[in-house]
Amino acid sequence: MGALLEVRNLKYKTEEDKEILKGVNLDVKKGEIHVILGPNGAGKSTLANLIAGSGGYEKPSEGEIIFDGKNINGKPLHERARLGLTIAFQEPARFEGITVEEYLKLSARNNPSADIEACLRKVGLEPKEYLKRFLDDSLSGGERKRIELASIMCMKPKLAILDEIDSGIDFVSIDEIGNLFKTMREEGTTLLVITHRENLALIADRASLMCNGTIVETGDPERVIRKFEKECLICEVHNPELVKGLKQ
Ligand SMILES: Nc1ncnc2c1ncn2[C@@H]1O[C@H](COP(=O)(O)OP(=O)(O)OP(=O)(O)O)[C@@H](O)[C@H]1O
Ligand SMILES: [Mg+2]
Repeated sequence: MGALLEVRNLKYKTEEDKEILKGVNLDVKKGEIHVILGPNGAGKSTLANLIAGSGGYEKPSEGEIIFDGKNINGKPLHERARLGLTIAFQEPARFEGITVEEYLKLSARNNPSADIEACLRKVGLEPKEYLKRFLDDSLSGGERKRIELASIMCMKPKLAILDEIDSGIDFVSIDEIGNLFKTMREEGTTLLVITHRENLALIADRASLMCNGTIVETGDPERVIRKFEKECLICEVHNPELVKGLKQ
């Protein structure tokens, strides 16, 4: 399987010259579930935004992003979406005045085979109860995240980046969300999943560990999880208090 997404030596500095990404290299193969683990502040969301062109992160300071054989560096969000790349955010969407049904229909506009009601059911929401609801604060955060997942299922993009979509959703079990991801994969969507749940990384085909603005390891999920637990969570840069406590 070839790479659907190739990130080469990606660097990102803020306007204040703070270096957030320090040369990220990452390959996501077509058809895989690829999980990124890493502590708070490692740069995961920044990387996700730069790949999708979202959140005002259109252009890296250096490096390349190749998606499906095309260099998408600097392309606006809507153009990347048209190429089949989509992102679900850590903070789920609110759209005042739009119903769940309208939102899902909009998501499915380029996928004539989409079954909106089936997509809702797959994320555990009963269509009868939710289709006419508005996509605003009257829905709980977890419900909005589930709807966001349903919208991606309706859209069926080539690549979906899911930035902590699992946090805040009380899935019955890791298997429930894992199976959802596997269904998406079977329907032709490659997944790049950012999570803090090590258990979720176990369902991945491959995992990467991000630390301090770079990817420090990619490969077998179990090995990556072990490195995360052994080296990353007790790293002085990210958890100085814990490390101080351990030394005492
Ligand atoms: N515009 C900005 N100005 C200053 N610092 C920024 C800016 N954007 C991001 N950062 C910093 O960059 C670092 C990486 O942030 P990012 O949101 O990518 O981390 P993350 O790995 O997604 O963390 P989390 O697990 O908490 O979601 C953080 O220290 C953050 O404060
Ligand atoms: Mg983040």
